[in-house]
Amino acid sequence: MARDTRSIRDYIRTIVDFPHEGILFRDVTTLFADARGFRMAVDQLLAAYAGERIDKVVGLEARGFILGGAVAHQLSVGFVPIRKKGKLPGATISQAYALEYGEAVMEIHDDALKPDERVLIVDDLLATGGTAEAGIALCERLGAAVVGCAFVIELPELGGRALLEGLGHEVHALTA
Ligand code: PRP
Ligand code: ADE
Repeated sequence: MARDTRSIRDYIRTIVDFPHEGILFRDVTTLFADARGFRMAVDQLLAAYAGERIDKVVGLEARGFILGGAVAHQLSVGFVPIRKKGKLPGATISQAYALEYGEAVMEIHDDALKPDERVLIVDDLLATGGTAEAGIALCERLGAAVVGCAFVIELPELGGRALLEGLGHEVHALTA
């Protein structure tokens, strides 16, 4: 039988005009649905931060929960969700941000991170960087140190890496 040589990029499909006309939506559900693809993605994210002290993984809603949960489990550290406004049950702090296709507010429980904890932020995709910037701000407002921001895919033309690196943050994406 021929060896499977598919790369991460090969598992991600593009849906045209979702959720709005003109958007090429990178759909990672096809990556997550494939056992080999999902394992490759998680293993490559882990390899990128091998040797780093990470106390918590912070996942950005919604697909960052799937990846971040798997990464946290492998690292044997806790997982903290950053969610869209109104979803978290306890006391929260909020951060507004702009998206490629709209605006939103993200929240984190105000007791989710301890000062000086070292956190890795995980999401599926980096586009304009607005979501990750809001996530970083929430972590830092709780006193945590952001070790890095890890993504499966980045859309370089939308400037997210430049934004986050310009703010002094380490960015790692598995594919573009
Ligand atoms: C997507 C993606 C990232 C964000 C990236 O989520 O999963 O979280 O957009 O865009 P940015 O770099 O321009 O901020 P989306 O806002 O579609 O929300 P969802 O995961 O809840 O569907
Ligand atoms: N979030 C922002 N832009 C996106 C895109 N083009 N595909 C998937 N998620 C996104």
